[in-house]
Amino acid sequence: MSGIENNAEMRVLFVCLGNICRSPTAEGIMRRRLDAAGLAERVVVDSAGTGPWHVGEPPDRRAMAAAAARGYDLSRLRGRQVSPVDLAAFDYVIAMDESNLADLRAMADGRRELLERIALLGDFSAEYRGQPVGDPYYGGAGGFDRVLNMIETCIEGLIVDISGRLVAR
Ligand code: 4NP
Repeated sequence: MSGIENNAEMRVLFVCLGNICRSPTAEGIMRRRLDAAGLAERVVVDSAGTGPWHVGEPPDRRAMAAAAARGYDLSRLRGRQVSPVDLAAFDYVIAMDESNLADLRAMADGRRELLERIALLGDFSAEYRGQPVGDPYYGGAGGFDRVLNMIETCIEGLIVDISGRLVAR
């Protein structure tokens, strides 16, 4: 980790299945929002997948294109698989859907201090509470715009939540 990351006060990990569509999109959006809020040096952001298939790969071309159309650059991100170590290392471990959520909870092995860090992204927005970010991988191009819309809205709520915790320190 760089010096900046060592000084960070909050750590956020977005998790989906493949780490090539939804969670890299969330990472790219989050980085831009933190920059705009002047919080980039205080909050570390990363993403990972529950599955191993795309480790080391850049994001899906369709996800990169849809994100680029809104000014988010995902091209430098590379896939990695989530591990139990991540649950201890990140303050927020944010699942895109119920399946990712269940996998992460199983990984916490009943440890309450780890389970408390795991959340569903939709729950950070009143509009999307309880809803999954649907997997766009096997669908059409429109799925990627729906993913972007939902993640942009939910990340507004996430930034408010994080800001509250940073102020409370
Ligand atoms: P993601 O989408 O979880 O949003 O990255 C997927 C990407 C790849 C696969 C599944 C979902 N896959 O089965 O390879």
